[in-house]
Amino acid sequence: MSNFILSPPYRHFLDLAALNVGEAREIIEKARALKAAGQGHGKGYIHPDQPLADRSLAMIFEKPSTRTRVSFEMAIHQLGGTAIVLQGNDMQLGRGETVADTAQVLSGFVDAIMLRADSHDSLLEMAEYATVPVINALTDFSHPCQVMADVLTFEEHLGPIRDKKIVWSGDGNNVAVSWIHAAVLFGCELTLACPKQFSPPTQILEWAANNGGRVTLTHDPAAAATGADCVVTDTWISMGDRNPEERIAILAPFQVNRKLMRQTKKDSLFMHCLPAHRGDEVTDEVIDGPHSVIWDEAENRLHIQKSILMWCFGR
Ligand code: CP
Ligand code: NVA
Repeated sequence: MSNFILSPPYRHFLDLAALNVGEAREIIEKARALKAAGQGHGKGYIHPDQPLADRSLAMIFEKPSTRTRVSFEMAIHQLGGTAIVLQGNDMQLGRGETVADTAQVLSGFVDAIMLRADSHDSLLEMAEYATVPVINALTDFSHPCQVMADVLTFEEHLGPIRDKKIVWSGDGNNVAVSWIHAAVLFGCELTLACPKQFSPPTQILEWAANNGGRVTLTHDPAAAATGADCVVTDTWISMGDRNPEERIAILAPFQVNRKLMRQTKKDSLFMHCLPAHRGDEVTDEVIDGPHSVIWDEAENRLHIQKSILMWCFGR
């Protein structure tokens, strides 16, 4: 049993809370370099050094995906490696084979496992039993690959994120949890404006406070957005959430619209991991407006995935 410990230089990428600042900066800087190296080439470009030519990745999806699936598959291709895409329900996993057994079997076939899991516990079980790196490609608890791409995007537009003011308005969901982890790691200020019913888990806020994070929870989006460098939101109904009508009614005051963006700095950014539900968590005029950097943010998934893969293999 690996018990989360892999033979160096192999590393799991499970959550931003498990990284130190040096590792996080290394992943961001390598993503920038890999992005620059690919400029001017077609998307089918393969890096001349083929740094992952002897590496393969199994990608398991227990939930739908557009960005994560395509960006990881293209990322490993561009680095010279191979990907196998697996839908959880098409696997014996979907018929009751345990995550632990699946982890050990796949470790004999591939060099890394990427998992989008219904439950965070499945991710932890995969990491405990796999003898190859395991990557969190979203769980009900967190979405660290997304927020690394968000930090890369922020810095491309506004420079170092340290001491900048980030505002999250909406559901205190899995992406919000990874933003809390990121605030501690990268030293930015994070204000979360969420309804009481859909606030992030108290223990994560306590973890941030105990680790020197400048993370505040409020229920007033307009006050939160005042002077913000960046406003971030996400769907009000995440995959697996129930009672959509009740959620929409409770979350309506947290919509990101022109009035809210007027509270922010002139050059502030708007980010959304996508898919978006226009007219709910964000209006068309904001998501398609001058503050929005959502297409850069989506593209940066590709560049950050490459860097995360390299980091997992110690390359
Ligand atoms: N943002 C994100 O993870 O998108 P997908 O669900 O399309 O992968
Ligand atoms: N919070 C969303 C993110 C989708 C990428 C969900 O979990 O469905």
